[in-house]
Amino acid sequence: MTSQEIRQKYLDFFKSKGHQIVPSAPIVLKDDPTLMFSNSGMTQFKDFFLGYKEPSATRIADTQKCLRVSGKHNDLDDVGRDTYHHTMFEMLGNWSFGDYFKKDAIAWAWELLTEVYQIPKENIYVTIFEGDASENLERDQEAYDFWKAHIAEDRIINGNKKDNFWEMGDQGPCGPCSEIHVDLRSAEEKAKVSGKELVNQDHPQVVEIWNLVFMQYNRKADGSLEALPAKHIDTGMGFERLCMALQGKSSNYDTDVFTPLIKKVEEISEKKYTGKLEDEKDIAIRVIVDHIRAVSFAIADGQLPSNNGAGYVIRRILRRAIRYGFTFLDQKEPFIYQLVRTLVFQMGDAFPELQKQHHLVENVIKEEEASFLRTLEQGLLMLDAMMNNATEKEISGAKAFELYDTYGFPIDLTALILAEKGFTLDEKGFEENLQKQKERSRAAAQMKTDDWVVLRDDEETEFIGYDILESIVRITKYRKVESQKDGTLYQLVFNTTPFYPEGGGQVGDKGVLESANGGVIYIRDTKKENNLIIHITDTLPENLTDPFKAEVKVRDLTAANHTATHLLHQALREVLGTHVEQRGSKVDMDSLRFDFSHFQKMTDEELCEVEAKVNERIQQKIDLQEYRKISMQQALDAGAMALFGEKYGNEVRMIQFGDSKELCGGTHVKNTGDIWYFKIVSEGAVAAGIRRVEAITRDKVREYFYNMEHQTEKLTEVLKSKDLVKSVEKILDENAALKAKLEAMKKEKAKGEIQNWKNEFVQAGDKQLLVKRTSLDAASVKDIVFQLKKDLPTSVIIILSDAGEKPMISVGVSEDLEAQYHAGNIVKDLAKEIQGGGGGNPGFATAGGKNLAGLDNALQKAKAI
Ligand code: SER
Repeated sequence: MTSQEIRQKYLDFFKSKGHQIVPSAPIVLKDDPTLMFSNSGMTQFKDFFLGYKEPSATRIADTQKCLRVSGKHNDLDDVGRDTYHHTMFEMLGNWSFGDYFKKDAIAWAWELLTEVYQIPKENIYVTIFEGDASENLERDQEAYDFWKAHIAEDRIINGNKKDNFWEMGDQGPCGPCSEIHVDLRSAEEKAKVSGKELVNQDHPQVVEIWNLVFMQYNRKADGSLEALPAKHIDTGMGFERLCMALQGKSSNYDTDVFTPLIKKVEEISEKKYTGKLEDEKDIAIRVIVDHIRAVSFAIADGQLPSNNGAGYVIRRILRRAIRYGFTFLDQKEPFIYQLVRTLVFQMGDAFPELQKQHHLVENVIKEEEASFLRTLEQGLLMLDAMMNNATEKEISGAKAFELYDTYGFPIDLTALILAEKGFTLDEKGFEENLQKQKERSRAAAQMKTDDWVVLRDDEETEFIGYDILESIVRITKYRKVESQKDGTLYQLVFNTTPFYPEGGGQVGDKGVLESANGGVIYIRDTKKENNLIIHITDTLPENLTDPFKAEVKVRDLTAANHTATHLLHQALREVLGTHVEQRGSKVDMDSLRFDFSHFQKMTDEELCEVEAKVNERIQQKIDLQEYRKISMQQALDAGAMALFGEKYGNEVRMIQFGDSKELCGGTHVKNTGDIWYFKIVSEGAVAAGIRRVEAITRDKVREYFYNMEHQTEKLTEVLKSKDLVKSVEKILDENAALKAKLEAMKKEKAKGEIQNWKNEFVQAGDKQLLVKRTSLDAASVKDIVFQLKKDLPTSVIIILSDAGEKPMISVGVSEDLEAQYHAGNIVKDLAKEIQGGGGGNPGFATAGGKNLAGLDNALQKAKAI
């Protein structure tokens, strides 16, 4: 069975059991401050379990792209060292939201594995929760009894809380679980040790493939458990491991999920994959084929590599792959991007976003590879310098840490190179530095979130901010959040709110909450957490159960910028072509930023044209047409642009200004005329094939023009002319002429000096030596030295000059002495006195320095030569 067939059979099976099949959610999460990536199938359904939102069906199944880079087995540094852990993996899952429970979940899992996939029953073991006295939790007898109907009782194993009680996080839905393990060893191996002994023992051939979670509790902030209002099923099956089991392989990397990628790496690197665990080359290949998947899927969902947050995780993963290729496969040029095509071919059908973003993914990876390879090269040079300057054969931990922290140079590579050159590394010192830094960032990120205090049990918050900016609201729940970064803050949820929560590139609304007695509290930000709209304040209002007036401030500036972003998008497509697609945006009250796909720098003409088109539409005073709840299909039929990496529900909101139609949840002006004017202030590159335009509207444009006017007035005053360009051109011309004249005069003067200098040579044996201090500039000194070398054979000339603030040493050696004296070496030695460095060839060398006073010592030292 191919991996494609295995995936399809899973979905078909659960469809036949009445499940709605839904697409995978994006791998990158946008609305969840507690999590950067989908790390299990249930991530996208969290709201359903918490009761914040109603699911579209009570039975759902899918395959979900997941990413885990930390946790029990998924430390990034371990992936590739074994045969069955991954960064990105697919999780097949089926869910019941208050519908079927343990009995059906168990019966269907059994039916699928043994009848559809035909896994031999004697290869299967299951575990159930044994109970936990400290939490007052009983053994899961129900699950045991349901399993008993299918499988021999000696194959049902008790498991502890660590393995058989699944929790989403420190807080939230949880419950006992039942895991299904398969024993893939040979009959011979099985005869030696029973598979039962090896369950949950990290044996590479006795592995867990499926986890059935019976969600029935909610873990509160104080650690206690409360029963959930309804019981749910959440299952997750590791797709890659399932493929290994069904394809009779002993490693995930030997299944057709990975073999095409491995073949491609073999082809590029001309190295053979032998599947060994300890072989560095094999580890490198596993690392690369694992990591390319994580990175490609993340980029296809809109997460570019960057220096913080989720982008940094992606950058680290990709850099780890580059490093392994560089060190163990001798790849000194970008090559990983070439695997994207293979991946698209393999997975593009199941995950169309990969196909659609194929070129972007390739370009971004290639660019990132090129830039990191440059860093590696630079790091190598710095390491060389460290070794050259070292007084002992050990490099300090602090130095290695600097290389790692500031230049991103990996420590294992540092250690490897040092060892090759006979140096050692102070690993303890490095670890200490690393720990200190980790503690600093941990302390900064530490956060304590209390449980919600529920005041009213209203349904979901109604967002009314598209129509009005103030309304009477009631607080339905609140909680305290403490962090080092922000101190103590409060999060409030209202029954209804005009406040727009940060999303779709637009910042969250700010404003005030006013009580009946006039007390005012500032709402400093509004955010979305899953489906909750959270208002963030510094203090908690008094009389929490009273009604309050909630009022949004300064939304209109943000709205103008958001609408301008749509008009900009449209104009860019008209001027540059329809390959332009939005890649990201940021809209606040001050400005707007728009990232889009395009492969060259925009010309000034293109920028002018885009700006003119946007302003034309502003002048046309086009009314907003808003379609609040239309079906996705209706919107697409109307020609609305959808953004990639965005998760849309069945019902969407479409924003139309004339021909500009976009799916958008943001806030907009009622008429384009409200934008007043649009001005582009910068254009530049963000990543390979992605450009960024920054622009301003309304009051900011006015400010911009006032500033320009002010500057112009000042210039007119200073230049005493109305034609500024002509005046400046005239000054520049005059300046150039004066410079040329000065140079000529200097040359003349130097010529005069030559005869004087010749008289100052001293005879040293059969050679002639000149050591001299001067205030002539570098260019003149160079001219004179070359002239002297030519006129006076068998000579060494050392000139110390103090023109300007900086000391400078120049050394000339006549051609016939070059075999004996090296100007570069002499200059290096003398430069130490002026805290400088430099070099050159045997005939002529110069060095600049920092310490002017050191010239006297250098003079003495030179004379000693
Ligand atoms: N949430 C469970 C897991 O991640 C089952 O999907 O294992």
